Amino acid sequence: MTDYRLLSRQAQEIIDADPWYVPALSNISALLMDALPELNWAGFYLLRGGRLVVGPFQGKPACVHIPAGKGVCGTSLAEDRTLNVPDVHQFPGHIACDSASNSEIVIPLHRDGKPAAVMDIDSPVYARFSEEDEAGLLAVAGILEKQVLWE
Ligand code: SME
Repeated sequence: MTDYRLLSRQAQEIIDADPWYVPALSNISALLMDALPELNWAGFYLLRGGRLVVGPFQGKPACVHIPAGKGVCGTSLAEDRTLNVPDVHQFPGHIACDSASNSEIVIPLHRDGKPAAVMDIDSPVYARFSEEDEAGLLAVAGILEKQVLWE
């Protein structure tokens, strides 16, 4: 079980140290990987030139570009909503970067009111992410989108 109040405080401390997206999202990726059991990938894709580009993450090397509307990440961005996918193999157009992934949660991060990045977390365990995980991760995403400096 993850202590999401602690996780939010730690995320805040990371941003307080330097809000620029490179150190902030790098350390938040490491924090997520450390604080949530049974993950194989945790990180961020950033909207650049109309498509998602891989950003700071922990895990195996990942797909570099994801078009808006494609896969779980691109769909979350295009539809501007959290996708908590219990079995990625059932998700139409899922992009398998790491064959170990069986479930995935993707949360859009907004800049000036529009989705500008996604937080992507993958697990080898089916249906890994509970409603409690989703709420806790949304709180972290809320801290990020209010405070991260994107350039
Ligand atoms: N599976 C994702 C691609 C990103 S990786 O999981 C890191 C998707 O379908 O969007």
